[in-house]
Amino acid sequence: MIEVKNIKKSFNGNVILDDVSALLDTGKCNLVIGASGSGKTVFMKCLVGLFQPDSGEVIYDGHSFTEMNIAEKKDIRKEIGMLFQGSALFDSQTVEKNVMFPLSMFTKDTVGEKMKRVNEVLERVNLVGANKKYPAELSGGMKKRVGIARAIVLNPKYLFCDEPNSGLDPQTSLVIDRLIQEITQEYNITTVVNTHDMNSVMEIGDHIIYMHKGKKEWEGTKKEIIYSKNELLNEFIFASEFLKDAKDMRMLEAAGKIDNDRNMDEIINNDSPL
Ligand SMILES: Nc1ncnc2c1ncn2[C@@H]1O[C@H](COP(=O)(O)OP(=O)(O)O)[C@@H](O)[C@H]1O
Ligand SMILES: [Mg+2]
Repeated sequence: MIEVKNIKKSFNGNVILDDVSALLDTGKCNLVIGASGSGKTVFMKCLVGLFQPDSGEVIYDGHSFTEMNIAEKKDIRKEIGMLFQGSALFDSQTVEKNVMFPLSMFTKDTVGEKMKRVNEVLERVNLVGANKKYPAELSGGMKKRVGIARAIVLNPKYLFCDEPNSGLDPQTSLVIDRLIQEITQEYNITTVVNTHDMNSVMEIGDHIIYMHKGKKEWEGTKKEIIYSKNELLNEFIFASEFLKDAKDMRMLEAAGKIDNDRNMDEIINNDSPL
């Protein structure tokens, strides 16, 4: 579990994170959602230590990151996997070299041991046989899967994914979302996913944190999000008329006004205002 306590971060006098606290659960996909510019990436960078918060604490399973010395921080970094926006693969390196990179950086494993582990994770992300390919030869979804393989190659306890679906079509996004969720549950990882994709929210949102202008505006599950009355959250998630209608239907259903499909058909066919 990662405990975030009252973190604040400003850049040149602009408050970007305003006293954000959260508990990020183990074995779950913790989703951080919000409009572009709401502070999701800065939040994630504060969690992994790429940015130093101005105040507040980030506690990894009881160990405060802010209070660790350099050696302790390095130990925690070994337990963190990151899937960067745009995958961030080395273009001049093959798939297997890309995936091997963290092993070479953090372990003293022999080449044989490293290859064994690389092949294990490539199999896990369904990329058997892609070892010798270069990133330019891969589709967007395959690149993300290489990124995931690299992020999990050191068996992380914590996994951070910043906009894992950016640039992917909805079907491929679903494959990536499910893979992240399966891996999270299989290895009991504390996973944090930044996204503004509502499909992901409904697919893998075990625990959702909604950020608005640097503040945690709302927090809950994917079931709760549908019924939430938080106005800012509703504006964000029900941005389209179609989704607003869908939400109204869910509300009527919950209130017992729609109790079966026949009623729903009548409403749709009669074009009655909801
Ligand atoms: N290194 C930086 N220096 C100054 N401002 C930054 C820096 N990184 C991010 N910001 C600002 O912080 C705000 C939130 O950015 P970000 O966390 O990237 O948003 P999101 O990921 O939700 O789209 C933006 O206004 C952005 O311009
Ligand atoms: Mg971002």
